[in-house]
Order: sequence, then structure tokens, then C-alpha cells
Amino acid sequence: IRKIGVFTSGGDSPGMNAAIRAVVRTAIFYNIEVLGIKRGYEGMINGEFMDMDRKSVANIIQRGGTILKTARSMAFLTPEGRKEAYDQLKGAEIDALIAIGGDGTFTGAKVFGEEYDFPILGLPGTIDNDLFGTDFTIGYDTSINTVTDAIDKIRDTAESHDRLFIVEVMGRDCGLIALRSGIGVGAESIMIPETKTDMAALMHRLEISRKDKSSKILIVAEGEGDSGGAFEIADKIKLKFPQYDTRVSILGHIQRGGKPTCMDRVLASRLAVAAVENLMTGRKGEMVGLIHGKIAFTPFDHAIKHHVEINKDLLKIVEILSL
Ligand code: F6P
Repeated sequence: IRKIGVFTSGGDSPGMNAAIRAVVRTAIFYNIEVLGIKRGYEGMINGEFMDMDRKSVANIIQRGGTILKTARSMAFLTPEGRKEAYDQLKGAEIDALIAIGGDGTFTGAKVFGEEYDFPILGLPGTIDNDLFGTDFTIGYDTSINTVTDAIDKIRDTAESHDRLFIVEVMGRDCGLIALRSGIGVGAESIMIPETKTDMAALMHRLEISRKDKSSKILIVAEGEGDSGGAFEIADKIKLKFPQYDTRVSILGHIQRGGKPTCMDRVLASRLAVAAVENLMTGRKGEMVGLIHGKIAFTPFDHAIKHHVEINKDLLKIVEILSL
């Protein structure tokens, strides 16, 4: 391997910059050239390449977002788009890639890697933690800390007014942000896509705890499909319990930004070093993750299969500690 291209793609996540920095510095350490590809697959097709050296990644480890920018590319879904990308890579003499992103990124990497026999390794960069083959994705820890901080603030005002809040957190297909931050903030209920939401049971529990005049926080993951979403849950609760002073708060994209936590910086750094070192030994077509503290490799199609299991112990903890 003489020249590596690195890019970020799909939704950004805090810690992507730490990963870019570590890829660049590791490559330089092993005398490999490295080019940054801007705007993910879109920039690859358009030949948006930039030289990266030690200085180009100075002072970014602490910054949220991604200095390489990110995009979702429709053109890369077509064989013609991928052919253009391949020609651009060859033109720039890039002979291996490190892709930082989530399931969409790895789907593209798998197809392209097989079509052109191109060495690609992936780093899991998404706040959702929804990839199989790593205990945590880069950005998840920062995101759940942001959510925890935000809901702690909501709890203050909720407690002052004896209010019930329904807080919607991110997670299009996955309830892991809701689950962990929900335990962290002491939520009274957590509704996630992986489990059936039992509205009758929720109403029953609210009925029992009605006389307890303190705040209540119900967390609903964006992708939870049974209840109709935060506003619909609020309407149902208002109808049944007019005495609850109910409010809805959608946390939105604040969950995707901000300084990465130390956990995310270290995770990004470890995975990126491993990615460069293992591209050098001929590995390809895999995501680099961390399982029980050890570097692990998972083929792209496995990583994106959405069979991340919800930890049953955590669900039990929610049940024991809520309401
Ligand atoms: O990064 C993943 C994610 O946070 C999902 O949980 C969410 O549904 C999605 O991104 C929203 O992203 P965008 O607004 O960029 O489409």
C-alpha cells in the first residue's frame, strides 16, 4: 500500500475528526501517503481530494463534526457513479481506502470493494451504535452524554412544575441512545423500536403513580413505531390524565454535534491505528471494531445487518428502576 484515501460519509458523529487524525498520523508513521476525500462518495466521484500531512490534522481531536465534510451520495448507488469514483481514485494513485461512517457507508464500501477488488476497511462512525461487530461506535458515548446533559436540564424545570415530559431522542432504527441515556437520567419509561410498546401498561403505571407529585420523563426513540411518536403519546396521556401537565421535547441534531468525549477520542484513535496497520497486512472488506476491549474485524455485510441485540440486562434495569 502506497497511498491511502480516507473519507467520512453519511450522518456525522463526534470523534470522526479524531479518527481522521489518527489515520493520517498512522499512515505517515509507516511512510504511507494519505489523501483526504471530501464529502464522502460524492467527493470521490468528483475528485475532491486534499493532501493530508501531520499539520493538517493538528488541533482537531477535540472538534465535533468532520473536517472532511460528509454527504449521502445517490450517484454512488449506480454502477456509472462507482466507475467514475474508481477512475478518480486510480488517477490520484490511491490504492486503499478507509471509510468512516455507518451502515450506508459500509453498504457502498462492500459493493465497491467487490466490484473493483479495492482494499477498504471501515471505522464505525455513527451516534446510533447500531453496527454489529463493535461494542461501541465512534460518537455514541458523546451523544448519550449530550442527551443526559439535556434531559438533566429538562428534569430541573419538569420538577419545578410537576410536569410530565416526553423526550424524543435520535435512533432511526435503533433504541440504544434511548436505552442508555434513559438509565442515566432515571427516566420513568423508555420506548424503543426493539421492544413492543405497551401503551395500556404505560397508562396503568401512570395511573398508579398519579398521586406522586413529582416530574416524570418518558423517553421515546425516533424510530419507535408502535405509539405514533412523541406528540401522539402526549395526546393520549393528556386525554386520559388531564391532570398531568404534559410537554414534548425533541432533542434533534444537538445529539450529533459537540466535542467528543475522551472515550470517543480514544476509541477513534485505537480503531484508526488498527485500520491502517491491517490494510498494510492485506485485510479488506471489513469494519474494525472493539469487542470486550479488543480489536475485532467484521465483514461489512455482517456489520450492517441490524442484528445488534439489545442488552437484556439493561432492559431489566429499566424495568426495575422506572416508575
Ligand atoms: O446519524 C444517524 C442519525 O442520527 C439517525 O438516528 C437519525 O435518524 C438520522 O441520523 C438523521 O439524520 P439526517 O437529519 O442527517 O438525515
